[in-house]
Amino acid sequence: MPSRKGIVLFDTKGSSNGLANALKKTRQDIVMEIRESGLRGRGGAGFPTGTKWMLAAAAIADRKYVVCNADEGEPGTFKDRVLLDEYTDLVFEGMVIAGYAIGATHGILYLRGEYRYMLAKLEDALRRMRSENRLGERILGSDFSFDITIRLGSGAYVCGEETALIESLEGHRGEARNRPPFPVNTGYLGCPTIVNNVETFANVSVIMAQGVEWYKQYGTDKSRGTKLVSVSGDCERPGVYEIPFGTTVKELLKLVGGENAKAVQIGGASGICVPRADFHRSIAFEDVATGGSVIVFGEHRDMLHVLKNFMEFFVEESCGQCTPCRLGNPVLLDGVEKIGRGECSMNYLQELFDLGASMQIASKCGLGQSSPNPFISILTHFQDEIFSQR
Ligand SMILES: Cc1cc2nc3c(=O)[nH]c(=O)nc-3n(C[C@H](O)[C@H](O)[C@H](O)COP(=O)(O)O)c2cc1C
Ligand code: SF4
Repeated sequence: MPSRKGIVLFDTKGSSNGLANALKKTRQDIVMEIRESGLRGRGGAGFPTGTKWMLAAAAIADRKYVVCNADEGEPGTFKDRVLLDEYTDLVFEGMVIAGYAIGATHGILYLRGEYRYMLAKLEDALRRMRSENRLGERILGSDFSFDITIRLGSGAYVCGEETALIESLEGHRGEARNRPPFPVNTGYLGCPTIVNNVETFANVSVIMAQGVEWYKQYGTDKSRGTKLVSVSGDCERPGVYEIPFGTTVKELLKLVGGENAKAVQIGGASGICVPRADFHRSIAFEDVATGGSVIVFGEHRDMLHVLKNFMEFFVEESCGQCTPCRLGNPVLLDGVEKIGRGECSMNYLQELFDLGASMQIASKCGLGQSSPNPFISILTHFQDEIFSQR
């Protein structure tokens, strides 16, 4: 295993006593401790994990499900791959703990289709855990039984959105559902279901192993713990880093050798572009949030070209269900091309900003709600540079 520097996750070297500790507690205590820890979902939205689990635990049903979202489709994100590959037990044990806490007996790992190469290794890990009685019947001598199966995605970005993911698991076309009802009440096969990110489950194992007070010393008041970030682009040391929440963009750039960047896209295609003047901003849910993608842009990058890439991605990946996203993304992409040809007036640019703002409000799911983000942030910060080059 390559040596990785970190505090909460990477220092565990991949194993913890989290599961054994958790099974000595009551289900209610676990939910309360996860709430108390301040853990927020690492998939991007930052929803409080304890609250999600509390709602699912309170739902009355014969069957409940725990789903681990390993779709990792956001451009520039590759940190879940590292966790699944090198810290597998932390992730699976986190799912078992979640199952115990909400009263589920079955977990599903929804694995990105492009990660099929990891399937055999992950299945081996599940077999090993069963043979060690950390999975299966009466886990570690308790009266709790839980098992995990792995299902593969097929490469659609929208299937990372939790309700589209559930549709996909049920064998349907991957399209976001209307909410409410929320998955915690009506999820996979109509049963209460929690969907959490790979990194969220890994954090759960560590919280159960090290305790809530230990965990809370890292990060900020509103964003406890650490964040794994996948850094790519114009820097000397791209890779996966574990940083405490509250780390500034400037500090991160120093760590990765990207001090000369003129901008950083934080949160992937659906995130925001942070220009040099804002490098004092911090990576945290209350400031610049990210599911993990950090893309560094050097001085020589044409930001309109960067934006065009992102908008082409959204046009390709929109599921087409709702009008703001289906029609809005092609209009924004067309606007980018108009700018490139020097055919976009300031009035029309303002109309495009207004369209983006409408899409953020009116789109049915997070894809269309966030796809205008790069358009708005890149053109806000680099308008002069982009227009002067045309
Ligand atoms: C278009 C789209 C793609 C998403 N892709 C992922 C993904 O690949 N992995 C993930 O964990 N969450 C993804 N999400 C967020 C999920 O819908 C959901 O919020 C998350 O899995 C909840 O887990 P968490 O609370 O642990 O973050 C995506 C959301 C949207 C709108
Ligand atoms: S916002 Fe886009 S991806 Fe989401 S439901 Fe509407 S068309 Fe589909």
